[in-house]
Amino acid sequence: MGAAAGRVAVVTISDGVSAGTRDDTSGDLAVELLGAAGFDGPLRSVVPDDRAAITGELRRLCDAGLALIVTTGGTGFGPRDVTPEATKDVIDRDAPGLAELIRAKGIEKTPFAALSRAVAGVAGSTLIVNLPGSPKAVGEGLEVLVPLLSHVLDLLAGNTEHRSGNS
Ligand code: MTE
Repeated sequence: MGAAAGRVAVVTISDGVSAGTRDDTSGDLAVELLGAAGFDGPLRSVVPDDRAAITGELRRLCDAGLALIVTTGGTGFGPRDVTPEATKDVIDRDAPGLAELIRAKGIEKTPFAALSRAVAGVAGSTLIVNLPGSPKAVGEGLEVLVPLLSHVLDLLAGNTEHRSGNS
């Protein structure tokens, strides 16, 4: 990954992990997969399923100049699943194609992928991508996202040259 990739963060959004009653298996996997993709030492944080807490954490990380924030959890239909709403509070440009592609590829594996309301978008020059909370969904989501990241992050950094679709 080029220097333009910048720093990345993994934010686990879960009441259980935040309370210490649940292991952060999905956060661990996201960090491992992003590391394997060339993003060294992602920052990591955990917040409960609380819209203001999520919004505050995302804004803090954007202000710190991160290139990419991957969230895991809180994208479903439970009463406390508010990650998409908090993300929409923070982003100033939608990236629906990324969320659609991740969901569509997930649906090829399980129709339950349709139960994620995950969104993606850009806040300033930081890309924020929601992934669901299960390790399986994190693995499947990053498998789709990672090959696109180098080009997206280059574009966000202002390197706007076109690239062929399959490089
Ligand atoms: N996406 C993929 N690729 N694979 C999965 O197994 N699980 C789904 C969905 N997305 C799944 C997936 C399930 S069962 C739910 S309930 C939703 O993500 C929302 O999960 P979350 O509330 O933990 O974010």
